[in-house]
Amino acid sequence: MRLALLGCGTVGSEVVRLLHEQAGDLAARIGAPLEIAGIAVRRLGRDRGDLPVDPTLFTTDALGLIKRDDVDVVVEVVGGIEPARGWLVEALRAGKSVVTANKALLAEDGAALHDAAAEGGGDLYYEASVAGAIPLLRPLRESLHGDRINRVTGIVNGTTNFILSAMDATGAGFAEALEEATELGYAEADPTADVEGFDAAAKAAILASLAFHTRVGAADVHREGITEVTAADVASAKAMGCTIKLLCIAARGADAAGRETVSVRVHPAMIPLGHPLASVGDAFNAVFVEAEAAGPLMFYGRGAGGAPTASAVLGDVVAVSRNRLAGVRSASESAYADLPVRPMGEALTRYHISLDVADRPGVLEAVAGVFARHDVSIATVRQGPAGGGPAGRGEDADLVIVTHVAPDAALAATVRELRGLDIVRSVASVLRVEGGL
Ligand code: NDP
Ligand code: HSE
Repeated sequence: MRLALLGCGTVGSEVVRLLHEQAGDLAARIGAPLEIAGIAVRRLGRDRGDLPVDPTLFTTDALGLIKRDDVDVVVEVVGGIEPARGWLVEALRAGKSVVTANKALLAEDGAALHDAAAEGGGDLYYEASVAGAIPLLRPLRESLHGDRINRVTGIVNGTTNFILSAMDATGAGFAEALEEATELGYAEADPTADVEGFDAAAKAAILASLAFHTRVGAADVHREGITEVTAADVASAKAMGCTIKLLCIAARGADAAGRETVSVRVHPAMIPLGHPLASVGDAFNAVFVEAEAAGPLMFYGRGAGGAPTASAVLGDVVAVSRNRLAGVRSASESAYADLPVRPMGEALTRYHISLDVADRPGVLEAVAGVFARHDVSIATVRQGPAGGGPAGRGEDADLVIVTHVAPDAALAATVRELRGLDIVRSVASVLRVEGGL
């Protein structure tokens, strides 16, 4: 079985190392040895340390390598949309099998890859694209195909989980925690994709597509990052027995006419400390799947890093290689349900709102009236003196309101109206709440 490896960076170099170290076992498991036909990189002269590989295998001609007749499987660990899309479409149309870790491409244009795989008859596997080492996509696309998944809730970005965990543990602000994440090598020099939620949104799209048999792309995902989360938000969450996590949530629902829909969103949210995702700390990932017959399932592990990600890549390489030797391919993309994706405004969620209000008669009634006008039901109200000082009527008071479930648009409109009230000095924080309180 001959492999074309596209990319030899953090993940690719670990793929090379594991292919070398486990050559005997991999050959025994597949029924044929795995050989590297070539490795496409951008810089031929780059120092690659003591990588256990013949240096003459490196090339900058990725397309030429893919087109070679002696290549059976193309492994893409370069990343980005182009030229990766062109390479993989070419490989798949030519009947080669493809293993990729490229979540950005799958979320942007997974359809082009699936269509090319169907045309060429090879396999398209991408376990490493979501949650690194965690076996998650194979369970969704195989083990759970006899069940009906209702909801997937996950922490799928290690960098942001590290930052939020640090803020929770030390009381640090976002900027300080990001600095620590960068120093320790968790955050990249340009952390935008992670902290603004783009990386998690791409993964959310891939998870939702598999869970709901529907093509969901990055553009369908409502996305908010963690840059606005403050130390005060984290303290507020703590006071409620909660912690803040960047969640990806993909859920079935129904529109006003009762037609089935899906909603897919990524945003920071408060979850109670008793929630299974609350204890996922450091840069770890975890995904909580709720299926009709199976009930709740939890997947946990390392979502990033060279070796963990290479583990998932090699698992796919073994699977597609076995298929090729047996002359079969795995089931093709399952998108038969084709459910409409509901806009964020219709997603059902709950809000935790901290207000700084004037402390005088009638204020609570006025605030409650705003919620009522938008048909948002209040679950709990907590009032204390402004700044947490000694009890007693002063000029201002802190008001913390947690709502029942309501459409996101109604909650957002409530907050907008609150901001316009004279008696509301400021809306100190607005956070969504998931997982019950
Ligand atoms: P790196 O940046 O470390 O490596 C990228 C590799 O691609 C390098 O070897 C680079 O060559 C090569 N490359 C870049 N552009 C070209 C080009 N035009 N032609 C040929 N080769 C090119 O990326 P990672 O290993 O971190 O990530 C690879 C993929 O895996 C991405 O899709 C990423 O999202 C995904 N992934 C990464 C994880 C991680 O923890 N790193 C976790 C999960 C998924 P050169 O070496 O010469 O610079
Ligand atoms: N930047 C990603 C993370 C890498 O922090 O989780 C894994 O996709």
